[in-house]
Amino acid sequence: MPATREFIEAAREASSHAYVPYSNFPVGAALVTKEGKVYQGCNIENASFGLSNCAERTAIFKAVSEEHLEFSSLYIYGETAAPISPCGACRQVISEFCDTDMPVYLLSKSREVKATTVGELLPYSFQELE
Ligand code: THU
Repeated sequence: MPATREFIEAAREASSHAYVPYSNFPVGAALVTKEGKVYQGCNIENASFGLSNCAERTAIFKAVSEEHLEFSSLYIYGETAAPISPCGACRQVISEFCDTDMPVYLLSKSREVKATTVGELLPYSFQELE
């Protein structure tokens, strides 16, 4: 499925809720279920920096906590010049819940869209359930 304006906007809007007093680096994510429902997520930081949660994992954990486990695409927005790229921890969590060929759209404030997939982001990923 190609990137849609609606979900790009959902990821951008999610970044406006980011709690980022330490990095001042807001990130937003929009995770789309196979039914077309959208879960938005933002990064949420903590004074103990290592406890911070990335936008992608916020969106995934929101969806899974509401019993949604089937996803069709993920959009990730950063206030960056070039499209943002998810961290290694998020790549592992994404690969747990999303199919290898699921599209991931990396977004920036320049409106550039980089299309990739879960498998391209984390090839040869660790999967216990296979
Ligand atoms: N961050 C995300 O939320 N997603 C990414 O893909 C990269 C990094 C967050 C973590 C931290 O709150 C801030 O961005 C700076 O690293």
